[in-house]
Amino acid sequence: MCGIVGYVGQKEKKEILLDGLQELEYRGYDSAGIAIIENRQLKHFKAIGKLENLRAKTKDYESDGFGVSIGHTRWATHGKPTELNAHPHLGEYSFVVHNGIIENYQELKVELQEQGVNFLSQTDTETIVHLFESYCEKKGDGFDSFTKTINKLEGAYATLLVTEVQPDTIFFAKNGSPMLIGFDGEDVYFASSDTPIIGMATEVYYLEDGEYGYAKDGEVKLFDANGEKNFTKKPLATDKAMAQKDGYRFFMEKEIYEQSDVMNDTMMGRVLDDRVEFEELGVELFEGINNIKICACGTSYHSALTGSYLLERIAKIPCQVEIASEFRYKEPLLKDDTLFITISQSGETADTLEALKMAKRAGLKSLSICNVDNSSIVRESDRAILTRAGIEKGVASTKAFATQTMVLWMLTLYVAELKNSVSKEKLQSELDAMRHTPKALLVTDRLHEKLHRLSKRYLHGHGFFFIGRDIFFPLALEGALKLKEISYLHAEGYPAGEMKHGPIALADSELFTIALMPRSLHYDKIKSNVEELSARDSTILAISPEPFELADDFIQTKYDSHPMLEFFEMMVVTQLLSLEVSIRLGNDVDMPRNLAKSVTVE
Ligand code: F6R
Repeated sequence: MCGIVGYVGQKEKKEILLDGLQELEYRGYDSAGIAIIENRQLKHFKAIGKLENLRAKTKDYESDGFGVSIGHTRWATHGKPTELNAHPHLGEYSFVVHNGIIENYQELKVELQEQGVNFLSQTDTETIVHLFESYCEKKGDGFDSFTKTINKLEGAYATLLVTEVQPDTIFFAKNGSPMLIGFDGEDVYFASSDTPIIGMATEVYYLEDGEYGYAKDGEVKLFDANGEKNFTKKPLATDKAMAQKDGYRFFMEKEIYEQSDVMNDTMMGRVLDDRVEFEELGVELFEGINNIKICACGTSYHSALTGSYLLERIAKIPCQVEIASEFRYKEPLLKDDTLFITISQSGETADTLEALKMAKRAGLKSLSICNVDNSSIVRESDRAILTRAGIEKGVASTKAFATQTMVLWMLTLYVAELKNSVSKEKLQSELDAMRHTPKALLVTDRLHEKLHRLSKRYLHGHGFFFIGRDIFFPLALEGALKLKEISYLHAEGYPAGEMKHGPIALADSELFTIALMPRSLHYDKIKSNVEELSARDSTILAISPEPFELADDFIQTKYDSHPMLEFFEMMVVTQLLSLEVSIRLGNDVDMPRNLAKSVTVE
């Protein structure tokens, strides 16, 4: 995810910016840049890849005396990770950095192009700086022009702007993406999270959505829709490691909590009023396609399985899912009316990459669903959809799975419309449900506390069966994988209807059944399967909106109207259960034994 830093004052600016960006490295990025104005001179540097590249480019430059400065690490969303697309973006005499997505940038860009403005990058961000300059006209009032600019933007943003017209001022605005202002008694700092300014600033103000203003002469003027406002600074934390985790105990915990927010990013600009749009896809990708094959590993394989139910049921297109390591050696029959989809968080998984190469050699069209732009799998694919989950640090994948599944649901609606296989009413009801997803992913204190208390009863036994039907079967597989990865307890995911064909022989009071019992999909069927297990004395933890009297433990979920909303809500429950069991067992949640985040070997 992108990172922002800014500084206005007397100190050496280049080092403050580069050190600040270094602190944001853990969030992931693929290019970086800085812009500094001092003595009315604008200087800027950009580099793709690691910060070392930017350090190398700036090694002969040293800022001197009073000035304003902004810096950015970019995680590509609109446009490839190139130097032209890297921030800060330049107008004629101003620079901007931005996190988030400007949803109406296409319309704004067209308007500006009609006025003769030339765009250099493919980013949504560049519109901000040109819009500002179109109001400012070189001599105008910087703050008035900035306010007009902000009022035109739709979507999520945290942005900083500097301009030669007012070389002593940084303009800022926040709406939907994080931004804070740091103070050390003399100078003013900006950042998208605490870590870059810890050790420099002593006090902080966390901006609220809709706030904007400017910093000048060591002071900050703050405004919102009602005009100028006062604000209260707080003491700034001093522990950087803690700050990187935003106060959570583990990255995995932070990532579970982040899911609601990142889902908004995944959907932004794609889930429209009456349809799903992917600007990265074209109709030609689906021309002559009668079949879809998805290949992936681990958690990504589980999202693929979920997607296959949706694609067949809603888009009415046959879809098979393969584990990449199996696919490679089974001498598969590949026909060129098949679209080959790979799913990967890292984009570097060796088995998935090799499967993709095989499909390409067989002449198939390819699409990847990935979290890392410019990764090997993205580069190798004809087309790619980025999941926009931001970097995932916990080895056990959470938000990557959630966003992959969302992309597959969106893709289903996209294909369904293309193939005319969905009615307008059905499409509308799917879109309505989709927009509710961020709510279904919210973690409440009550839920987390309940799972914390329950977890103490699940630290022993001879195994766990996560069971579900339909799309809740892949969720059961994923729930079991999460638990075994970080608790080292034996867990299996099973289709609930299959238990009686063998595994039920294991049932006794020391066998824990985690039953996913959605109300909107086959409730009565799964209920009978759970009753069969209960009759054999298995300990049952039921997760359902519907109270279930045979359950030993029960988590009541809220959503019951749409299977995908139930899916995402139950997903969070299973993730928190694994987390709490693992913490009680004293395991390293973020770095489980024997596992690596990116599996680049066969
Ligand atoms: C589990 C997990 C792994 C990965 C698998 C594929 O929490 O993270 O099962 O899903 O190694 O990795 P990617 O998605 O990077 O291809």
